[in-house]
Amino acid sequence: MNNNYLFPVYKQINIEFEYGKGSSLYDKKSNKYIDFTSGIGVNSLGHAHPKVIKTINKQANKLIHLSNIYSIKVQKECAKKIVKLSTYEKMKCFFCNSGAEANEAAIKFIRKYAYLNEIKNHKIITINNSFHGRTLTTLKATAQEDKQKGFGPFTDEFIYAKDIEDIKNKIDENTVAVMLELVQGEGGINAFDKKQIQTLAKELKNKKILLAIDEVQTGVYRTGEFLASNYYEIKPDIITLAKGLAGGLPIGVMMSDIEDVFTLGNHGSTFGGNPLCTKVALEVLTILEKRYKTKKLQKTVEIFQKELDKFYLKNKEYFVCKTGIGLMLGLKLKDENNLSKVFEEALKHKLLVLKSGKDIIRFLPSLLILEKEIKEGFRKLQKSIIKLNNKDKK
Ligand SMILES: Cc1ncc(COP(=O)(O)O)c(C=O)c1O
Repeated sequence: MNNNYLFPVYKQINIEFEYGKGSSLYDKKSNKYIDFTSGIGVNSLGHAHPKVIKTINKQANKLIHLSNIYSIKVQKECAKKIVKLSTYEKMKCFFCNSGAEANEAAIKFIRKYAYLNEIKNHKIITINNSFHGRTLTTLKATAQEDKQKGFGPFTDEFIYAKDIEDIKNKIDENTVAVMLELVQGEGGINAFDKKQIQTLAKELKNKKILLAIDEVQTGVYRTGEFLASNYYEIKPDIITLAKGLAGGLPIGVMMSDIEDVFTLGNHGSTFGGNPLCTKVALEVLTILEKRYKTKKLQKTVEIFQKELDKFYLKNKEYFVCKTGIGLMLGLKLKDENNLSKVFEEALKHKLLVLKSGKDIIRFLPSLLILEKEIKEGFRKLQKSIIKLNNKDKK
């Protein structure tokens, strides 16, 4: 179908998927594609998970939406579960509908904190190649100037550090917070060094500067732990979640344990925390918690990483290295011209992968992907690289 009624903001692939099952997607002719993308980390349980379908149906029969002017029991249960799984016991949640909204809430929260603590001309430090969303403020927080071109003026409170090390050079008396992804998702599956992050977290705590971790892509077991912050063994002041939390339904969360910042009337959302999305999120979390506790999640991570290792070792002439943690993984190409080629060839072989940055093939499979789906996917990837440029042979 033509796109005459849509703004052309997405570079769309000309395949219309009709339905999905697990980590397979099917087009109109029932051609099967192996999905290593899970809707960019959203379909955490894969497609058409029976328990997600059942929960949607059951809840839709009772209540889909209820205004936040009423007390919503399942919203409270969902918040309790998220806080319990995070291990940061004193945190509270604010529900919204997307990653950008969760980060927007975090930035509002930081501003109010600055106001209460009389930090004038407050600045938030973010890092080059970060990605925090597309609203005007989260776009400004996103330290990628090419994405901002034409959309100014912006709120002028973000300072960009080159990398983690550079943060300390940027800190001054106006710094109120540092906001970052522990593994940059859009910016090249760039997993920061654990020791460096732990040192940074300590320094910020000493200087009473807030640490806000954007876990929109890394959260909800993507890295093998519930939060990447758990993996890095730090305790942020603010955390945001979205993508994989409700298995495909729109949801976002901003959480913090700083009290008395968000007070009555300070923030809100019409759809945020509605009974349908929070009920499904609760089910998704229950399923994933069980898989984590029974080490099944760890097994899936191991199998995927083992197959990725094999693929990398066999085809080292094309790749610089493997990147990422858990099931948020990438392969860095030696020749960035090969990125679109791999992507397109993979499509021809009916495998869905993602791009990240200029030269990374990104993998964000469902957290429930089966061994046979993983193996089938890597067989397809092997066939997809035959026509690549080989820098080593130049
Ligand atoms: C780390 C991170 N933050 C924020 C966002 C924005 O999320 P959304 O597209 O749901 O607004 C994304 C989306 O890719 C992301 O990866």
